[in-house]
Amino acid sequence: MSMKIDILTLFPEMFQGVFEESIIKRAIDEGKVQISLINFRDYTDDPHHKVDDTPYGGGAGMVLMCQPIFDCIESIRTPESVVVMLTPDGVPYQQRMAYYLSEKKHIILLCGRYEGFDERIRSICDYEISIGDYVLTGGEVPAMVLVDSITRLLPGVINERSHIEDSFNENYLLDYPTYTKPRVFRGMEVPEILISGDHQKIDEYRYQESLKRTKERRPDLLK
Ligand code: ADE
Repeated sequence: MSMKIDILTLFPEMFQGVFEESIIKRAIDEGKVQISLINFRDYTDDPHHKVDDTPYGGGAGMVLMCQPIFDCIESIRTPESVVVMLTPDGVPYQQRMAYYLSEKKHIILLCGRYEGFDERIRSICDYEISIGDYVLTGGEVPAMVLVDSITRLLPGVINERSHIEDSFNENYLLDYPTYTKPRVFRGMEVPEILISGDHQKIDEYRYQESLKRTKERRPDLLK
């Protein structure tokens, strides 16, 4: 059972390269995820291929129109599809949403540009997601963030233990510090305990370090 992700964008070329390396590429090659880029400009009824227009009531910028986006989504959605709009006024994206979406069969990601979407487009979307409190030039980079975070959770894409141990899982602790060779680099030493071979002590040390780091950097996670 493979997942299908359709990305609706006016700039499909922006995605070239991003899914052609490393873990995402392997997941695609192994058929674990199938990603399609769809330019919703292809769905416009307008003789000049317009997809946006000026806002009612005035104001700066252009607004994405309903018709091309409704027609595009209606032509590809099935009862199993989940439609996600990427927008800075959406719900903040978190790891638990990545898990939730990783269980779906078909995800449609809608990327905006310009000043925003006609408000009525929200009615055809199941979720509105923001990747953080900053404004990007469009929803393309956020869509890449979702694809990456969802794909790595699909069965067999990475070693399951790797994501069980991730920061932002149910224990809500940041990762503990990790080291590799050499033992001393420019005078900075690897903590003695990690070389001790005592795995119980190492586990306890790592847990305490996670806790300390979380208290310092993200006390909001320790509700
Ligand atoms: N589009 C522009 N900025 C965005 C953000 N922060 N999250 C999701 N979509 C966006």
